[in-house]
Amino acid sequence: MKLVTVFSVFLFPLILAEDYTFDIQHVQVPLDHFSYTGSRTFSLKYLVNDTFYLKGGPIFFYTGNEGDIEMFAQNSGFLFDIAPRFKALIVFAEHRYYGESVPFGNLSYTSPEYLGYLSSSQALADFVYLINELQKTYAPTNNVNKTPVVAFGGSYGGMLAAWLKMKYPNSVVGAIASSAPIWMFKDENPCEEFYGIVTSSFKELGGENCVNTIKKSWAVIRFLKPLPANPVKEFCSKINAPEYSDNISLLKAVGEALQIYTNYTGTTKCNDILKTADKLGDSGWGFQNYDWNFEEYSNGCFQQYGVRPRNEDVPILLYGGKDLSTANNIVFSNGRLDPWSGYGVLRNYTSDIIAIVISDGAHHSDLRVSNPNDPESVKNARQIHVNQITKWFNEYYFKH
Ligand SMILES: *[C@@H]1O[C@H](CO)[C@@H](O)[C@H](O)[C@H]1NC(C)=O
Ligand SMILES: *[C@@H]1O[C@H](CO)[C@@H](O)[C@H](O)[C@H]1NC(C)=O
Ligand SMILES: *[C@@H]1O[C@H](CO)[C@@H](O)[C@H](O)[C@H]1NC(C)=O
Ligand SMILES: *[C@@H]1O[C@H](CO)[C@@H](O)[C@H](O)[C@H]1NC(C)=O
Ligand SMILES: *[C@@H]1O[C@H](CO)[C@@H](O)[C@H](O)[C@H]1NC(C)=O
Repeated sequence: MKLVTVFSVFLFPLILAEDYTFDIQHVQVPLDHFSYTGSRTFSLKYLVNDTFYLKGGPIFFYTGNEGDIEMFAQNSGFLFDIAPRFKALIVFAEHRYYGESVPFGNLSYTSPEYLGYLSSSQALADFVYLINELQKTYAPTNNVNKTPVVAFGGSYGGMLAAWLKMKYPNSVVGAIASSAPIWMFKDENPCEEFYGIVTSSFKELGGENCVNTIKKSWAVIRFLKPLPANPVKEFCSKINAPEYSDNISLLKAVGEALQIYTNYTGTTKCNDILKTADKLGDSGWGFQNYDWNFEEYSNGCFQQYGVRPRNEDVPILLYGGKDLSTANNIVFSNGRLDPWSGYGVLRNYTSDIIAIVISDGAHHSDLRVSNPNDPESVKNARQIHVNQITKWFNEYYFKH
């Protein structure tokens, strides 16, 4: 069974309320950054908020994940919280083949001929291309220095933020990679890690009954939409009966607890899970997402999309596996309550590659808008982000 299928798409809790506003922009990017066999381009969507930006200020650049970019923009309030003090321009870039950034319209997913340009490598090249365009548009007054850019991302977007800094080191001064399981590939970590952390975090905050109930209902749980400051704890407080007599009452209890995830604000009129999941781009994610059983993954991929991944080692060849020794200026933050943290960077690697383990943090908590009820550990993580970003800018301006 594919873990990721069970957990929907990266366990990304989504909000549908439109709190933040942007200008919607588009940039024409090459369909294929790595060959000269064609000159086709397509329109990549990005969101810009320049309300806090002052000329000469930096760019905060969110590397979009597997879904409509609006979803991620609405769940990353941290960028808005800190933009005023840095006078930063806020940009959220959509990932190719998701949302509106589909190169071949409704044909994009219909055959390998069209779908073959969907890869993290092409997406990173899109981001670098867009960053260069932004740097020209928002050039500082003296036009000598480039406008410094900080990459932000959570989940798969966090992997992209980190990889952007590694693969294109001069495109961004640093990267905040939240809940980025960059070590989920071959031989990098045992699969069981994921389940272990799920179980231990629910147990710690909710007790044994909660764990047992959850275990019985894994397949039902799709974590979508807005969250209270301590979602796991609140979730478990709703499921505390030792045993449920039948499947209906089990599902009912979980359903009520799921309101924490699907209707925390109490304003959700109808939980259109399918619609929300659709916005997350399940179809493209199936194509991109890597499974632990390579052969099974390869066969599934061929069946569904007509292509096979090249080789199990490719992610490691492309992104260096566990060797981060040539990278710098990345903060990897992981919530200890987040199952994906098992595949994250959890120790300080060098003085420039910092790991933050957020003891009360769930998935992506530190990039969310601040809330008075946030645990201290989440507040501390955000403070470390601010300190590191300040340090990167100081170094940048010192050198330029
Ligand atoms: C940018 O975001 C801020 C904070 O939500 C909002 O007040 C402002 O109107 C937004 N600016 C634009 C151009 O949408
Ligand atoms: C794509 O959209 C066009 C125009 O709306 C429609 O005619 C066509 O049948 C669609 N193709 C597919 C494969 O859905
Ligand atoms: C509950 O669901 C499980 C899994 O589908 C099934 O094996 C079991 O028989 C069901 N129990 C009842 C009482 O329907
Ligand atoms: C969300 O919560 C509110 C308030 O408790 C309730 O009236 C509403 O029916 C809930 N929505 C759904 C979809 O359950
Ligand atoms: C890494 O170093 C920072 C300070 O630079 C510290 O706050 C953090 O706790 C360290 N992380 C780990 C996992 O030890």
